[in-house]
Amino acid sequence: MQAKTPSESLTILTDLVLPSETNPLNNLFGGELLARMDRAASIAARRHSRRIVVTASVNHVAFNRSIALGSVVTIEAKVSRSFNTSMEIFIDVWIEDRESGVRAKANEAIYSFVAVDEQGRPVSVPPVTPETDLEKERFDAALRRKQLSLVLAGKMKPSEATELKALFL
Ligand SMILES: CC(C)(COP(=O)(O)OP(=O)(O)OC[C@H]1O[C@@H](n2cnc3c(N)ncnc32)[C@H](O)[C@@H]1OP(=O)(O)O)[C@@H](O)C(=O)NCCC(=O)NCCS
Repeated sequence: MQAKTPSESLTILTDLVLPSETNPLNNLFGGELLARMDRAASIAARRHSRRIVVTASVNHVAFNRSIALGSVVTIEAKVSRSFNTSMEIFIDVWIEDRESGVRAKANEAIYSFVAVDEQGRPVSVPPVTPETDLEKERFDAALRRKQLSLVLAGKMKPSEATELKALFL
């Protein structure tokens, strides 16, 4: 299968924060952001694989910064690495200053998706060829994150997580 670059799956969703999507502090609900990120990630995974894709796990979400009512939120999702049937999608969330237009990083997240056939059975996906330094860094660390996710899900024995163990040796 022909490899694809992360930029081929790049998906950008820009939307406002409306009153119905905020908590009592007038900041965006975490769950609303998770749903927006899931949508962007699923489109990126679909662009990479050209298959039906399902969310396998949400591996890392950092709500570092609240997002105020009325903010313009941009979610950028790209496939950072693929394995056999699964793909890691790295998501960066930006907010835009209303007056200056300057963008600031608000959050990031990492989702795993699996490509499946019409019966929901996992199917192979193309490999990823990272291009930029950041894409290479994310590609290199993805196997470690996959192993951590599988260990936490009880699908891999810690003794088999070679990349993870290497971190501590
Ligand atoms: C995701 C799903 C297809 C995996 O099925 P499975 O029976 O575990 O299949 P496999 O064991 O063959 O795993 C398939 C791939 O998923 C990966 N995977 C499974 N669980 C994972 C997890 N928790 N984190 C990361 N990757 C995971 C496996 O490592 C494998 O990847 P690889 O082929 O690239 O090596 C299946 O669990 C599923 O359909 N889940 C429901 C998905 C869904 O509905 N999501 C929306 C939630 S509302």
